[in-house]
Amino acid sequence: MSMRLTPEEQDMLDGKLGKSVQKSMEILTTLGEIFDAGCMVDVYSVQVAGVSYANLGEAGLEFLNEMAEDGNVKVLTTLNPAGMDRENWRALGIDEEFAKNQIRVIEAFAKMGVITTCSCTPYFIGNIPHFGQHIAWAESSAVCYANSVIGARTNREGGPSALASALTGRTPKYGYHLDENRYGQVSMKVNAQVRGTDEFGILGKTIGDKLIKLGKNIPLITGIPSATVEELKSFCASIATYGGTALFHMEDITPEFHRYPKPSGNVYEINQEELEKARFELVDDNLEVDFVSVGCPHASINEIEKIASLLKGKKVKREFWITTARPIKRIADEAGYSKIIEDAGAKFAADTCCVVAPIEGRFKGMIVDSAKACYYGRAKNKFKVRIGTLEECVMEATK
Ligand code: F3S
Repeated sequence: MSMRLTPEEQDMLDGKLGKSVQKSMEILTTLGEIFDAGCMVDVYSVQVAGVSYANLGEAGLEFLNEMAEDGNVKVLTTLNPAGMDRENWRALGIDEEFAKNQIRVIEAFAKMGVITTCSCTPYFIGNIPHFGQHIAWAESSAVCYANSVIGARTNREGGPSALASALTGRTPKYGYHLDENRYGQVSMKVNAQVRGTDEFGILGKTIGDKLIKLGKNIPLITGIPSATVEELKSFCASIATYGGTALFHMEDITPEFHRYPKPSGNVYEINQEELEKARFELVDDNLEVDFVSVGCPHASINEIEKIASLLKGKKVKREFWITTARPIKRIADEAGYSKIIEDAGAKFAADTCCVVAPIEGRFKGMIVDSAKACYYGRAKNKFKVRIGTLEECVMEATK
């Protein structure tokens, strides 16, 4: 189906608003035609992924520089984690050549007016849509959080399509932007106690694995009496990683649970035994922990406060990273948490993380409280991994 464009969108496509806008509109209309979108929708905000130089390389940087020649963002736009902490990269062992290239990437985004805070939790740092708003976000865990927990509407964008939305303020109206694609497809009842970021990550893996087997995308979940923001962000990261899920509905927790017709058919039960099996799958044999990382997705100020209280007066014996967005780190500085954490010898890795940083093979074994970090720690960085509670992570770092 060819796209119906407004006169302004047609001007964008015809190049009347500049080369980068034209290229962006070409990307978006092509996407729209592939997915039969029919028209565009205005977006409130954008979150761009593909920020680490390790993923972009020179070809990606060339594309960004081309877009930055005359491109300027039309809406609030933030970035996914970069390959390094711009202030603390030396202490984190990042080499100088990589640092130079990563800075070139950030500069290209800055030239386009992007807010260069790099975080997978944009909702903690002011990029926060309200219920029903259309957005164009790219990071899978944030997409899942925005669609499910906030009730905003986004497809999982790629780097170029998210940037194209930033430069035009539009996205093609298909997929999760439409009511009819947001219905729950399969019911799941959790018959187990789930608490803490690690257990919510394990639940996300269990449901995600089940969804893949069933060939379904959107679960309707019951049996969870309550969940914190941190538990939900962990769950979102995990179900997106293991199930490719961009939207779920959770009774009494997410806003659209009762909005759409319910799926007919089986209710699949998730029991304690399955969760234990999933936990077992996230613990490698013969693990020798030499790296502890907390903050996948990026740590909240609550989590940092908890880490500070657990570390107070102690010294860490292993490399220990706390990954978070820089504005959250600044709050931790003001609250005095950073001093406690840094005095203990742990390191902040702001605006980056243990997956996108170029640390493949640097450590033997990593303990994390995140099921997503387990997946990528193994797959991308070739570490052995173990999932544990936040308390166990801190204990492992100090023992
Ligand atoms: Fe965020 Fe990195 Fe985890 S981007 S979700 S901290 S893998």
